[in-house]
Amino acid sequence: MGWQLGLWAALSTLTLSTLSTAADPYRERALQLMAKTPLIDGHNDLPWQLRSKFNNQLDKVDLITLEGTHTNINKIKEGRLAVQFWAAFAPCGTQDKDAMRHTLEQIDVIHRMCQKYPANLTLARSSQDIYKAFTEKKTASLIGVEGGHSIDSSLGALRTLYHLGVRYMTLTHSCNTPWVDNWLVDTGSHPSENNGLSNFGVRVIKEMNRLGMMVDLAHVSEQVMKEALKVSEAPVIFSHSSAYGVCPHKRNVPDKVLKLLKEKEGIVMVNFYNDYVSCSTTANLSQVADHFDYIRKVAGARVIGFGGDYDGVERVPKDLEDVSKYPNLVAELLRRNWTDTEVRMALGENLLRVLKKVEEVRTPW
Ligand SMILES: *[C@@H]1O[C@H](CO)[C@@H](O)[C@H](O)[C@H]1NC(C)=O
Ligand SMILES: *[C@@H]1O[C@H](CO)[C@@H](O)[C@H](O)[C@H]1NC(C)=O
Ligand SMILES: *[C@@H]1O[C@H](CO)[C@@H](O)[C@H](O)[C@H]1NC(C)=O
Ligand SMILES: [Zn+2]
Repeated sequence: MGWQLGLWAALSTLTLSTLSTAADPYRERALQLMAKTPLIDGHNDLPWQLRSKFNNQLDKVDLITLEGTHTNINKIKEGRLAVQFWAAFAPCGTQDKDAMRHTLEQIDVIHRMCQKYPANLTLARSSQDIYKAFTEKKTASLIGVEGGHSIDSSLGALRTLYHLGVRYMTLTHSCNTPWVDNWLVDTGSHPSENNGLSNFGVRVIKEMNRLGMMVDLAHVSEQVMKEALKVSEAPVIFSHSSAYGVCPHKRNVPDKVLKLLKEKEGIVMVNFYNDYVSCSTTANLSQVADHFDYIRKVAGARVIGFGGDYDGVERVPKDLEDVSKYPNLVAELLRRNWTDTEVRMALGENLLRVLKKVEEVRTPW
């Protein structure tokens, strides 16, 4: 290349990089923070998409470039998604029928995702595994069972799920189980059947504490939130819920519970589903950031995380269309004067704190 051309190339590169920095210094800072602190997302339903679209036939799917979903491995990379809790979901219609088989098949497809793409996804069972995966630049993949009906009221089944790698269980989905009430009790569309948690429900939580499995309060009734916060020895999570104070939807977390969560050092991982973000069918990134601001105001930055619910919902906000967009949201928090420390807590430090505490409380026998 002649010197003139070379100079021109050098200058235009300089101009371009200067421009992109000037265009959004917040995004640059977001990416720097995300290079040092793992972004952890609490809930993604890609395994459900694999079941409904491909009947779990992973050999028919290229997860690197998969289209028609919010999630693929290219988008994961672009979004700096370092840690994902994949949902093992069995619909409520399977309760008292084949819920356990559905759950096992979801767990199986998560294991096989990691086996098929070992350079990009790696199964993680502990906080240690998460740090190791982050160092190796692989997305740590953890398993959360969405719906207590999956255990068919059996503590033996619960223990076996732990052995298969399950590290949280959402106490229920959108149905009551024989031992816990769901959020639809609070809308009046389902009757209360357990007045919150039954005695067996309390035993389930104690067994989860003993095993080292996180208790997830997304989808439960408000009464259950309060009882579980009392009963659980370890801090609890909401893997995909937002703030009721911003959007009064019963799937969201009321202020009183946010304050209890602060006391008990648990976290709420903010859901991006339009209907929970704006209480309407449309929403945008800025409205999601409003939930982060609000939760910080009510209970502090130590109780916040990300729980996008990607591939589990049909409507997501403008500028958060898929998992490649997380850095936009992190940049928005910085633009709103969140400190680096607060952003790092929300990215992953809060969840890691909870998980480590859960691991400490664990008493194998
Ligand atoms: C998957 O992993 C390989 C090996 O580390 C890497 O070269 C590639 O960029 C990764 N792909 C994505 C989309 O992250
Ligand atoms: C996001 O939506 C809200 C409510 O419709 C609107 O007021 C706001 O201007 C939007 N923000 C952006 C950046 O589009
Ligand atoms: C952020 O802080 C700056 C400097 O203190 C202030 O001027 C600005 O209004 C703040 N922005 C927001 C969104 O709070
Ligand atoms: Zn859900």
